Amino acid sequence: MAIVVYVNGRIGGEQDAVISVLDHGFLYGEGVYEVVRTYDRRPFLFERHLQRLRRSAQMIALDVPFSDADLADKVRETTAAFFEHPDNRSVADVYVRVLVTRGVGEINYDPSCCGQPSLVIIVKPLVGLPADVYEHGVKVAIVSIVRNHPCSINPLIKSNNLLNNALAAQEAYRRGAFDAVLRNYRGEIAECSIANLFVVKDGHLVTPPLEAGLLSGITRGFVLELCPGADVPVEQKVLRDADLLNADESFLTSSTQEIVPIVQVDDRPVGDGRPGPVTARLLHAYRQRVREMTAPV
Ligand SMILES: Cc1ncc(COP(=O)(O)O)c(C=O)c1O
Repeated sequence: MAIVVYVNGRIGGEQDAVISVLDHGFLYGEGVYEVVRTYDRRPFLFERHLQRLRRSAQMIALDVPFSDADLADKVRETTAAFFEHPDNRSVADVYVRVLVTRGVGEINYDPSCCGQPSLVIIVKPLVGLPADVYEHGVKVAIVSIVRNHPCSINPLIKSNNLLNNALAAQEAYRRGAFDAVLRNYRGEIAECSIANLFVVKDGHLVTPPLEAGLLSGITRGFVLELCPGADVPVEQKVLRDADLLNADESFLTSSTQEIVPIVQVDDRPVGDGRPGPVTARLLHAYRQRVREMTAPV
């Protein structure tokens, strides 16, 4: 398999995908990004991702000098180049990462020294989670790293500056967990390092509100929309450790992972330690809706 990358107007392989060391994305993590996956080779919920990319950019006063149509074209061209590559003919679906950075400047924090923002689009094979993960669920660890205070790097910004998330995930991996659960500065549960978090108690689904300081996940939003049709009562409410530890079920959501059952938090099983019926119902509804939305016209 060969990855294909667009960098500032040029599409090529990984070796050709270079960015200046003076780009403020590299120097300071100054930039924003989106991850979209395809179903049937078409990006899923792409418009929602574009909207969030613009909101993130606005929150760091970063100009995105491309129209939505322009960005869609560039993603289409890069994805097409990926599938045309002889090594990629057998790939079914791809992971697409779109990054916009402040661009090349001086070694200082002054954005007026930067020229054009840089645009990078990375397309690589989508490596889905094994079926086993959905069948048996995963363990998460509540970590000591705290989710960014909304007055630091606001978690609503899908920022390229991911050191805090990386440190949280690495703490979880050291403890044998699939992902980390981060609390916010008030000690409430916020989300995972690359996913949002839900719990089920007495048939009711609960997820922390955006005010708890978390990314407004596209999948989180999509799951909230699916709930009425799947007959699952849902609310956004502050969650604490005890709510997760005493939940009947729990799951995490992200664009590439969909809905992953959580069956263990540190050393404690969630519910009976197996994926529960509400999680299974929502995963079924999710995949069903994806099929409907991506079916050839
Ligand atoms: C911190 C964080 N929360 C949640 C998510 C899930 O977001 P989405 O559903 O938009 O993929 C991600 C995805 O990368 C993330 O990094």
